[in-house]
Amino acid sequence: MKKRRPDCQSIVLIGFMGSGKTTIAKKLSERLGFECVDLDAEIVKTVGRSIPEIFRCDGEAIFRNLETHVLRSIANRSRLVVATGGGIVEREENWGSLRQLGLVIYLSADWSTLRERLEQGAGRPLANAADGWEPVEKLYRKRLPLYAQADLQVRTDTASPDATVAAIVNLLERMDHESKG
Ligand code: S3P
Repeated sequence: MKKRRPDCQSIVLIGFMGSGKTTIAKKLSERLGFECVDLDAEIVKTVGRSIPEIFRCDGEAIFRNLETHVLRSIANRSRLVVATGGGIVEREENWGSLRQLGLVIYLSADWSTLRERLEQGAGRPLANAADGWEPVEKLYRKRLPLYAQADLQVRTDTASPDATVAAIVNLLERMDHESKG
């Protein structure tokens, strides 16, 4: 890959719910000495309400507007590792901000792994065991081609978070090396 990657360029993690974006972003930012920004956490800070509350009281459309707004507000910042929400890829206009930030990395995992992880976690309005898993799997399959628009893909279902971070750092170093050579 010959894409030039400035050292200060931010890194954006995309992927479905349960793919490990928040965990990997924290570890990767420490490793690179970058600031970690979690978009969902920024939204919660901005409106002073939890994500389930926003979905329940305002609806998904308002949440998506907030998501686009918060993403746009950080789009020109460098030296960030950004953990996005799984649905960020759905709005075409978000891609402008994602690409403006820097290198977009898709953290992938197969559906059975994601479902297992989601079954263990709670508080995600779009992945609620009570509503059944079929619509969630449908959403996952619908989004796959969108996630595939990332610059790089790293699997998270076959490696620990530390090993995933090491794989990303390795890829970044290889990109730097190849762009110089
Ligand atoms: C969503 C994913 C969530 C959160 C919101 C909507 C989605 O973030 O943004 O519940 O549409 O996939 P995570 O991917 O961090 O769970």
